[in-house]
Amino acid sequence: LKFVCLSNDGVDEHMVWLIGLKNIFARQLPNMPKESHKSVMVIRRNLVVGGITYRPYISQKFGEIAFCAITADEQVKGYGTRLMNHLKQHARDVDGLTHFLTYADNNAVGYFIKQGFTKEIHLEKDRWHGYIKDYDGGILMECKIDPKLPYTD
Ligand code: ACO
Repeated sequence: LKFVCLSNDGVDEHMVWLIGLKNIFARQLPNMPKESHKSVMVIRRNLVVGGITYRPYISQKFGEIAFCAITADEQVKGYGTRLMNHLKQHARDVDGLTHFLTYADNNAVGYFIKQGFTKEIHLEKDRWHGYIKDYDGGILMECKIDPKLPYTD
């Protein structure tokens, strides 16, 4: 018997244990929210260039973007825009979401505005309040996902 404290560090054996623990939680704690984090990633020549990790709240039809980044030497080449478009398409067509919310870092507000996010929150408060945690040091921003637009080709 041993006791370990782990995070998602990329070691295969650790990943297997973490998924096993997640399955135990899902069976033993059935009232725990089912939705957990998902990541859309940009992979080039089998290496990850960047990605967006988000939490879909299926019942509320919105997703919270937790992390979004492109590796330093590949920024401002358009990957961030294409990544966001793939996220929108997946979130709409697979998760059935209509909106995204995110706490954007000050220096990333310009990027999010170019991706269609606004500082005005139009989503009714009862759809998201109590779901996403307050987080100081970021600006809450919203994006409505177009119901029909083909975001990717
Ligand atoms: N501020 C203002 N505008 C920006 C920024 C920025 N930080 N980053 C990109 N843009 C603009 C680009 O100039 C471009 O404009 P254009 O369409 O007029 O040419 C447009 O946004 C799209 O640029 P991309 O090349 O698609 O963006 P990129 O691949 O660099 O990805 C990202 C953007 C993810 C912000 C990347 O620069 C990055 O990883 N930055 C550091 C980490 C970061 O700040 N992440 C967001 C934190 S907030 C959060 O995670 C919830």
